[in-house]
Amino acid sequence: STDYLAEPLRPQVHFSPEIHWMNDPNGLVFHQGEYHLFYQYNPAGNTWGHMSWGHAVSPDLVHWEHLPLAIPEEDGVMIFSGCCVVDHDNTAGLGTKDDPAMVAVYTGHGHGKQVQNLAYSTDRGRTWTKYAGNPVLDINSSAFRDPKVFWHAPSQEWKMVVSLADEKVLVFYGSSDLLQWNELSRFGPAGVVSKSNWECPDLFELPVENGSEETLWVLEADMGSGAIAGGSGGEYFVGKYDGVRFSPIQDSQWVDHGRDFYAPVSWSDLPEEDGRRIWIGWFNNWETCLVPTFPWRSCMSIPRELSLRRIPTAADASQSAVVLVQRPVRELEALRQGGEQIDTSAIGWPPQSVTTQGQIAELSFDLEMTLEPGESRSCGVRIRTGEGEFIEVGYDREPGVVYVDRTHSGNVDFHPGFAGRHAAPTRLQDGTVTLRVVVDRSTIEVFINDGEAVISDRVFPTSQQAVLEVFGGGPTAKISKMQLWPLKSIWMD
Ligand code: FRU
Repeated sequence: STDYLAEPLRPQVHFSPEIHWMNDPNGLVFHQGEYHLFYQYNPAGNTWGHMSWGHAVSPDLVHWEHLPLAIPEEDGVMIFSGCCVVDHDNTAGLGTKDDPAMVAVYTGHGHGKQVQNLAYSTDRGRTWTKYAGNPVLDINSSAFRDPKVFWHAPSQEWKMVVSLADEKVLVFYGSSDLLQWNELSRFGPAGVVSKSNWECPDLFELPVENGSEETLWVLEADMGSGAIAGGSGGEYFVGKYDGVRFSPIQDSQWVDHGRDFYAPVSWSDLPEEDGRRIWIGWFNNWETCLVPTFPWRSCMSIPRELSLRRIPTAADASQSAVVLVQRPVRELEALRQGGEQIDTSAIGWPPQSVTTQGQIAELSFDLEMTLEPGESRSCGVRIRTGEGEFIEVGYDREPGVVYVDRTHSGNVDFHPGFAGRHAAPTRLQDGTVTLRVVVDRSTIEVFINDGEAVISDRVFPTSQQAVLEVFGGGPTAKISKMQLWPLKSIWMD
């Protein structure tokens, strides 16, 4: 809808619901040419409640079409988070081999319990039927949720990872038909960083970009509070998985160093020739989730392509660790318009405006920059949206971090925990650090060193036009490259 263009805080290249409350992404699956996005949704209001699955589809992971509510709350059972698979071999008997069913595996929340249920669709996700034999998994628990299912070819079996949330334990199950599930193993709470709960797990295999290593597996889960930037966030382990058990090869790491990336899950059933693993996260934080937007609340992150990379550890460069690399999907680049090299020679202190010819940037843009801090204390960019109002992104030598500071970013008073600065330990390579910064009216995502770390933050500026300023806290600071692309709204056509 073009009305979206007129809503000052409505992201123009990120998915958001038309109206009402949204949280976790659910049921991500590719089927018959469409990427499906389901999501935790309250069809009745702008705060959490009556959880049901909302639905949208996309041909390309960036343009989204809203579809009617997919799976509604019913008989006191809410539809909590879960996943979708395409049952190509009709193992569950809910479709046919010629016309395989999409099967949603989700948590039914109600009557004092959390159980795992199925729903299925044989018309490309347009209508859904709850399975008559629900629940398919009930262990009499009130905190047992968020199943993620995938087909494991080596053992010719469906696998599920699901959370015993209060115990911070993930349980792995196997099944030949999606209906009968057998427990295979458990992971946690030993080694888990979360001190609160653990929910929304995902498990998948990834190649190591620059290693001779075989592929490794990533096990991710999310904590409702106590994450690195405060409030909710995710942690992940890298390790081995043999179809029964996950064994980490190193300690847990943070998924995102900002405050607003939660419950990411990855797409199922991408065509084999695509070969990518792509996930999307809820662009919010449970602590500050009542963000000042109306009549809709929350958006999703940019879908991110994942890989692994072995790099020296921040604490000791003689040691290395395998990190999860996240990059915006390449489809986002199709929204780039023009593309302008920005002259950054004005760098110094105080921050100097560099947006060319006095032009201002519309607040949906993609920015690539290379920082060379030299001996300087800091250097970076301010995205100024008014007198005394700016978002600052920079490198800080002590203690060697890239940060986003949203303290002065506009409306920060709606929650006492909102204002702040969020930092990610960052290595310099040949004295430089590269940043890719995607800003979209009320979001900022900073991808550091080609995705080695990410900082994702919501912002609520009072203007949707910005002047860019560069700064360097010392004479040797340089920004050797700065290129800006306005992004075309996905809601335009
Ligand atoms: C995580 C979560 C899930 C649950 C859903 C309910 O954000 O609490 O564990 O399934 O949200 O909306």
